[in-house]
Amino acid sequence: MSTVPDVSTEPNIVILSSPEEVDSMAAQHVIKQIHNKPDSVLTLPTGATPVGMYKLLVKAYQDGQVDFQHVTVLNLDEYWPISKNHQESYLQFMYRNFFAHINIPEKNRLIPNGEAKDPEEEATYYESIIQKYGPPDLAVLGIGPGTTCHIGFNEKGSTRNSRVRYVLLDQETRIANAKFFHDIDEVPTGALTQGIADILEAKSILMLAKGPGKAWGIHRSLYGPIGPEAPASFIRDNPSVTVLLDLESASQLPKA
Ligand code: F6R
Repeated sequence: MSTVPDVSTEPNIVILSSPEEVDSMAAQHVIKQIHNKPDSVLTLPTGATPVGMYKLLVKAYQDGQVDFQHVTVLNLDEYWPISKNHQESYLQFMYRNFFAHINIPEKNRLIPNGEAKDPEEEATYYESIIQKYGPPDLAVLGIGPGTTCHIGFNEKGSTRNSRVRYVLLDQETRIANAKFFHDIDEVPTGALTQGIADILEAKSILMLAKGPGKAWGIHRSLYGPIGPEAPASFIRDNPSVTVLLDLESASQLPKA
């Protein structure tokens, strides 16, 4: 396994006037990556934040501006346990929002199996997949809500060397994600997630945040100490980071 170089460079923080501009710049960033390297390996997130970006990527594909034929996607995470048919599984999310509308081959869509009998075995298997196809050229990330500062489902306490594993979700995460389910009791208690080391090994990182619920975590992660108390802070150990923020998520950052 390759190791993460111990370098801290300043992330390129871009503050945009609307959430739609975040979507647009994020889509352009991904398209540029694929134009530069048509067989790019992308680590991709789910959640509310990237939905607009996926819509624009689908439109760009339909307009003939980008081709996903040689792209490989390594999803960040999946609930465990969850049925592959569950509308809120990340498998279904990716299909509904992205894969169903573009020309990425099925064999190039890689995501942890939420139906695996043994989550530890599945974690070991998914790590081997990442090692086989990675390191990713670009990892697109959201950031967890409130004080979680999670990336993937690396909740507080996740270490810099962590790899794919089964994790328990913080209650704050489950409360935030209850909006996607009928009831909080339906939100799975656990997940399979890429580890911090897997994410940092990407050649570049694009983090997206929108809305007031991300303001505290963005400030803490970009300006506070780097460490497991704020897992998103670890992105500052990657040498090529771009952070796209709307005004609300940037509201606690120091004024230039
Ligand atoms: C999802 C993921 C999570 C989300 C985060 C923010 O695949 O990795 O880290 O990015 O929970 O979710 P939203 O965008 O719904 O606020």
